[in-house]
Amino acid sequence: MKIITDIEEMKEFSRNLKKTSKKVSFVPTMGKLHAGHKKLVEEAKKYGEAVVSIFVNPMQFAPNEDFNTYPRDIESDAEILSDINTSCLFYPSGDIVKNNETFLIDPKYSEQFEGVFRPGHFQGVLTIVMKLFCIVEPDFAFFGLKDYQQYILIKKMAEDYFLDVKIIPVETVREKCGLALSSRNGYFDEEGKKAACAFYEALRKTADLFKTGEKSAEKLTYFVIKELINSGFAIDYARIADKGLNGGKRTVEQGDILLAAARFKKIRLLDNIFFG
Ligand code: PAF
Repeated sequence: MKIITDIEEMKEFSRNLKKTSKKVSFVPTMGKLHAGHKKLVEEAKKYGEAVVSIFVNPMQFAPNEDFNTYPRDIESDAEILSDINTSCLFYPSGDIVKNNETFLIDPKYSEQFEGVFRPGHFQGVLTIVMKLFCIVEPDFAFFGLKDYQQYILIKKMAEDYFLDVKIIPVETVREKCGLALSSRNGYFDEEGKKAACAFYEALRKTADLFKTGEKSAEKLTYFVIKELINSGFAIDYARIADKGLNGGKRTVEQGDILLAAARFKKIRLLDNIFFG
């Protein structure tokens, strides 16, 4: 596996791949890799040469968030990527965001769901992903469905800017209890872990209620809120939208999505489930 830290070298590596008619399959990450990331890379490999970036992007953390303590383990990450036959690890330095004065924003979607609770987050995400796309010039890029709003925003960005990259969503990898894998799961103690499992369980029960015939968005939303409160959560939001993230639904249909974020003590959880 080639490890590249230099921006120009990364551009050259990608362009050389393309010269030999290979496709560049890109997985942007912030590292501390887990089985969810491995699944993204396995998917990426089906489409071309897998290039994975690791960069903990300061632009997407608010001052009160965990940028300084965000888990980092580049040695172990590099080993994991090499073991699964990643072609290239791009590990840029902070220079990639140094002196940055232009930003990408998406006013419509950024101010809903996560955007309300993490102001500036999606501006940081879109800006870094655009920078990475300009450097790596991927043919395909892979994003986990756990961060559904992020996936939708990046897909929209690629369309709006006529980027030659196809954005591919990848299913969330879960623990046995349903908890979505996340680099932040290491923050949980035993009590937190139990609560985290209850979080997805509440979403799952709501999707089950839909399956048994309840179609009212109000009743389903009320149900999930009650479940979360009973499990000890302080809720940031629990909302139902269509797959394009348009809310305001009265009747829930197959293919709609329930998105939720809630806090248990200091731990914040984010997840979603499709109604099927
Ligand atoms: O999902 C993530 O890990 C990050 O938001 C991303 C897409 C790598 C941008 O920093």
